[in-house]
Amino acid sequence: MSRHVVLTGGASGIGAAALALFTAQGDRVTVIDRHDPGPMANAWIEADLSDLAALPALDPGPEIDVLVNAAGLPPRPGLETTILRVNTQALIALTEQLLPRLRPGGAIVNMASKAGGKWRQNLVQVQRFLTMDPKDDLAAFVRDERIDPVRAYDLSKEAVIVWGLSNLARFRDQGLRINAVSPAAVATPILDDFMTAFGERASKGVEITGRAGRPEEIAQVIRFLASPEASWVTGCNIECDGGLTAQLEFAALTATEG
Ligand code: NAI
Repeated sequence: MSRHVVLTGGASGIGAAALALFTAQGDRVTVIDRHDPGPMANAWIEADLSDLAALPALDPGPEIDVLVNAAGLPPRPGLETTILRVNTQALIALTEQLLPRLRPGGAIVNMASKAGGKWRQNLVQVQRFLTMDPKDDLAAFVRDERIDPVRAYDLSKEAVIVWGLSNLARFRDQGLRINAVSPAAVATPILDDFMTAFGERASKGVEITGRAGRPEEIAQVIRFLASPEASWVTGCNIECDGGLTAQLEFAALTATEG
């Protein structure tokens, strides 16, 4: 059965790979992106997701089966507030806006990241961020909390994971599933930004796994989580990173002292 998929960030990288997979299986895809996703999309809504005031005008059509929030910005100097807006606040605002249109049985898939993996340790700050009204002064928050571009990115993804978990029951009551996808390095146009911003943290990861992930490999996980075959999968954060997180966590747990 052809489903209606709304996909942010479908013009490039992981989102574009997801667009190709959804289209290949016969789904109708509405892409929300500031760039043209090309002819594979059934519809393109041109939007800058950093402009929260513009979101209410976005109209992807009546009923939605799947919402994939893939749009995101990497750590870049000076973009701290924009990263938090696009990666988290716009994702939340758009999801809440589209919620009444999501059919029971539907699925929400959010792009998080390995960079958001320390959400447990940073929960207090994550919750301070998540309880902000989008109209609050984000620049002041960034300044007061001394948030640099890397912390902005990490926080933005921690918050995506935490927001999904804190709404899991509410969405289940509406017949919806919500999951997050957390890759480490993926070979997309923003990989260089990650390698520059994260430095050794990123290069060591690629060294351990032998290569970066491919956008198609991440898109397959998105496709599965969005599919009826994943009907009993909700509230998960899938670390599709070639085993990097698992390997590092196990090594830390089993490290002997001395
Ligand atoms: P990409 O740069 O190839 O694609 C991002 C898409 O989001 C682009 O089509 C871009 O136009 C759109 N976008 C960005 N800002 C926007 C805005 N303000 N308004 C509307 N559209 C906007 O990046 P990639 O790598 O495909 O990233 C996709 C998601 O995966 C992002 O959320 C990213 O944080 C996440 N991710 C990426 C990793 C990587 O190594 N590439 C690793 C872990 C997570």
